[in-house]
Amino acid sequence: MEQVDTLIIGAGASGLFCAFHLANFGKSVLVLDHANKAGKKILMSGGGRCNFINRQVQTHHFVSQNPHFVKSALSRYGSEDFIALVERHRIGYHEREHGQLFCDDSAKDIVKMLLDECQAAKATIALNTAIEQIIPSDSGFVIRTKHKKDNRSASIAAKSLVIATGGLSIPTLGATGFGYQVATQFGHTIIPTSAGLVPFTFTDKLGEMIKSLSGLSIDVIAYNNRASFQLPMLFTHRGLSGPAMLQLSNHWQLGEIITINLLPTLDAGEYLLKQKTKQPKQLLRTALAGILPKKLIAALENHLWQQHKDTELANLKNDTLRQLGNTLNAWHIKPSGTEGYRVAEVTKGGVDTRQVSGKTMESRLQPNLYFIGEVLDVTGWLGGYNFAWSWASGYVCAESI
Ligand code: FDA
Repeated sequence: MEQVDTLIIGAGASGLFCAFHLANFGKSVLVLDHANKAGKKILMSGGGRCNFINRQVQTHHFVSQNPHFVKSALSRYGSEDFIALVERHRIGYHEREHGQLFCDDSAKDIVKMLLDECQAAKATIALNTAIEQIIPSDSGFVIRTKHKKDNRSASIAAKSLVIATGGLSIPTLGATGFGYQVATQFGHTIIPTSAGLVPFTFTDKLGEMIKSLSGLSIDVIAYNNRASFQLPMLFTHRGLSGPAMLQLSNHWQLGEIITINLLPTLDAGEYLLKQKTKQPKQLLRTALAGILPKKLIAALENHLWQQHKDTELANLKNDTLRQLGNTLNAWHIKPSGTEGYRVAEVTKGGVDTRQVSGKTMESRLQPNLYFIGEVLDVTGWLGGYNFAWSWASGYVCAESI
């Protein structure tokens, strides 16, 4: 039977990162993945340019039932460490708004960097390998596998086992719930999962109105009672997307209302009252023409103030104008759901971090079993934070094995 010090399941961001660090620390390492390619999600990330880190990574950029869990790992492996690695590999990169760092050329550069590091450190990667069974043993674990191409079965003995199988987002890129299954096998609790960093969907008249604006993007403040984001919002043929919506989706639960300030730099009620004094014969749509896109005004007119459509401002009560202004500054809408795991960038929820050490990523229930990356109940904001978590959790795990 093949024997290794550490077996890692999942050749994605966290698994590959953990693998070469472990091998550099002198351990024999085998990474198994059922997919035919390593790092598939990295290749798709950041629109093909991989937003590989953010310059400012702090605890508040993560959503978890146990918000302090990320502190230790993030303090031991930070943005500057990863940037130094990228620079050592001479990968060109640039900074976009809010400290997001992207490759100049391609996300392929990040995957190549990880694979080159694994090769140099002599960490072995075996793809197309299904994991059939994990059996705890006196000296660690025995992992039974089957090769997907030739159906060959094998057993591998490992002193420690790292689960780096990610979340449920985008099954076509190899995502499965396998990590949760393993966690459950060893008595771990799973915080219920849902799609994160994902567009919202809407039904009925609201859904039709949103669809009719497909392609339009405006700056908004999108918020609920847990989080607020001033970012662009995009109308699509399926619902509302863009950074503001993706960010808010991390803090949203099915059935909740979200609020959108369509005019974040203006008190819309005050503005309409001033317009009434200045040009009382104006219609609402004319008054708003300079501050909102025409297409949006036309859609809102049918949706929010149909009865006042042809009324001059002079004939509208001040209270009515203030109310309309309030609606533009705080448009309450109820999504019917999200576009789900099919398109979500991340999975909220996962392995309960209260049963995992934040210093080592080791299970508190099963010695020598580790969980890293997105399989844990740690979800980063949009902007390179999810990779930041994959790198940091992978690193501290390697350091502690
Ligand atoms: P990851 O998903 O990377 O790897 C898991 C691996 O486990 C995969 O290789 C999979 O095949 C394997 N696996 C799963 N089940 C298995 C099983 N049963 N047996 C064997 N192997 C199995 N983040 C960010 O910070 N910046 C960005 O720009 C983006 N962009 C982005 C775009 C898109 C389209 C998506 C879907 C996601 C992003 N993300 C992102 C999120 C980021 O990709 C994600 O958080 C990390 O890849 C998570 O790393 P992990 O190693 O935890 O899982």
